[in-house]
Amino acid sequence: MNHAVVYLTKTGHSKKIASAIASALSLSALDIKTRPAIGEVDLLFIVGGLYGKQSDPMMLEFVKGLSPKQIKKAVLVTSSANGSLKQAAVRTALESRGIQVAPEEYCCKGSFLFFFLGHPNSEEIEGAVSFSKSFLTRD
Ligand SMILES: Cc1cc2nc3c(=O)[nH]c(=O)nc-3n(C[C@H](O)[C@H](O)[C@H](O)COP(=O)(O)O)c2cc1C
Repeated sequence: MNHAVVYLTKTGHSKKIASAIASALSLSALDIKTRPAIGEVDLLFIVGGLYGKQSDPMMLEFVKGLSPKQIKKAVLVTSSANGSLKQAAVRTALESRGIQVAPEEYCCKGSFLFFFLGHPNSEEIEGAVSFSKSFLTRD
């Protein structure tokens, strides 16, 4: 199986989470801001934060450029100060292009200004890694 991990971050949390997932899969996390070429993958892990409850426009532009011929399945990993917000527009963009998206999404807290300092913490990052690894043994 062939996998890739991409992230878009404003304050570093998504990079931290994506790097931990990528490292567990013996990969390097790819920064969407560098417009990485993904090639063909069975699983694409997409790690992003939410800003004003929305995904960054560059994240949306990136997923709109993907095709179902390239990506068998996408898995979303999301951080927000709220801790349970989802990358809804990313999911919709992928699904409208015919790309299968895992119904489960890993959501975790990320600090914002002085709120929730220390998040995502090591337990939350480990949770994202376990969640992501669980897809390697699924059909
Ligand atoms: C400009 C900005 C706007 C944000 N707006 C929200 C928000 O509306 N709701 C929320 O729960 N978190 C919000 N957050 C917190 C981020 O979702 C959280 O810090 C997340 O972990 C950021 O991911 P990143 O470090 O990968 O950029 C905001 C953060 C920033 C910087």
